[in-house]
Amino acid sequence: MKILIRNVEILADHDLKHHIKNGFIGINGNKIDFIGEDPAEAAKFNPDRVINGTGKIAMPGIVNAHTHAAMTLLRNFANDLSLQDWLFNNVFPVEAKLNDEYVYWGTMLALGELIRSGVTAIADMYLHMDAVANAILESGMRANVCRIAFHFNKLGDEPIDQRDQCRQYFNTWNNAGDGRIKVYVEVHSTYTLEKWQLIKSAELAGELGTGIQIHLHETAREVKESLEAYNATPIEISKETGIFEVPVLAAHCVHVSENDMDILKEYNVNVVYNPTSNMKLGSGVAPVSRMLEKGINVALGTDGAASNNNLNMFEEMHLASLLQKGVLMNPEVMNASTVFKMATQNGAKAIGFENAAGILEKGRLADIILIDKSGLHLTPLNDPLAAVVYSAQGSDVDTVIVDGRILMENKVLRTIDEELVKYKVNKIAGELIPGQAD
Ligand code: NI
Repeated sequence: MKILIRNVEILADHDLKHHIKNGFIGINGNKIDFIGEDPAEAAKFNPDRVINGTGKIAMPGIVNAHTHAAMTLLRNFANDLSLQDWLFNNVFPVEAKLNDEYVYWGTMLALGELIRSGVTAIADMYLHMDAVANAILESGMRANVCRIAFHFNKLGDEPIDQRDQCRQYFNTWNNAGDGRIKVYVEVHSTYTLEKWQLIKSAELAGELGTGIQIHLHETAREVKESLEAYNATPIEISKETGIFEVPVLAAHCVHVSENDMDILKEYNVNVVYNPTSNMKLGSGVAPVSRMLEKGINVALGTDGAASNNNLNMFEEMHLASLLQKGVLMNPEVMNASTVFKMATQNGAKAIGFENAAGILEKGRLADIILIDKSGLHLTPLNDPLAAVVYSAQGSDVDTVIVDGRILMENKVLRTIDEELVKYKVNKIAGELIPGQAD
């Protein structure tokens, strides 16, 4: 399938030097074949499909580098609580009732919401991960998914060794969907596993030649309890147990010392900033500007819809920038270009698609979104990077292409039946949380 997007404004990456006012993008199979301003080149392309890009901005698909997609099932449930109370007393008991079917539909709903707001790739960490992978495969989305190697002691359960199931999961799903799916090993956090389980999880990731998804330093309490128990921070424990020997996607890193950040840099740990979730749970503000100064790769994420309470990466871009400016009382930090890069290129790198996605250029994967710039709130457009980061809304996304396949066109989802998904999820929510949902 060859697709030509014509007469479109192009933000190829975060650098306005590569900005094209009126250009063409040719897609051949799952790759970008050409990109530029030359109508002659476009005329030679001979596409199967032409998309008229007039009035639209084409940009790299947005990467949501940390989420728990099926937590959409718990949207607007258990609000205004501390992380500890929210997670242990509210979320975990409901999650114990989940099954493959519930998680499949919850994930599908999330994927629909994500595609609608311009996300082309996610990193997902959750339960019933076969159901998650199936939903991702069907939706056409790109994803880094992970699975536990040890069932953790969250409710005082006996730890169960699931390394064989983890290997099997990796063998089944890694590179599925023509390489759209990558499988990492899940280490939920250093506080839900014993040290020996952290070591074995790291060894397993090494054995499989893959990486690890982990939550690190989300709250001050997590760091304090780690220091009390081990005289080491969760980042120091991760280093000690070999977790940082493989590629790592670390969510949060809110409460980190200079030493912690130096370790993150030394081991090329990818950090995911989740401003909304960190604010909603009162966890604090991650020193993202400082991490970027140190050369740490920082991406952006929504976390789960249960602590957000949506999956809108445009909100994350706004907040990511504004929070840093406000807290540091410095409007020059976290400019539009930096935030745009975090949401695209840094995200693609963080979830294991470095040099493959995240930028629009010849030879890269065709993960492209078109933003409708006709809204009053985008008029006049002026600086297009500022428009995307500060004034655009998720609902301005018009068309989404992943791996050369159109997943949404003219704001209509192509791979997900929205009405069916809403019906299923409302029904499931009624079973999970009686009395609260429809
Ligand atoms: Ni999380």
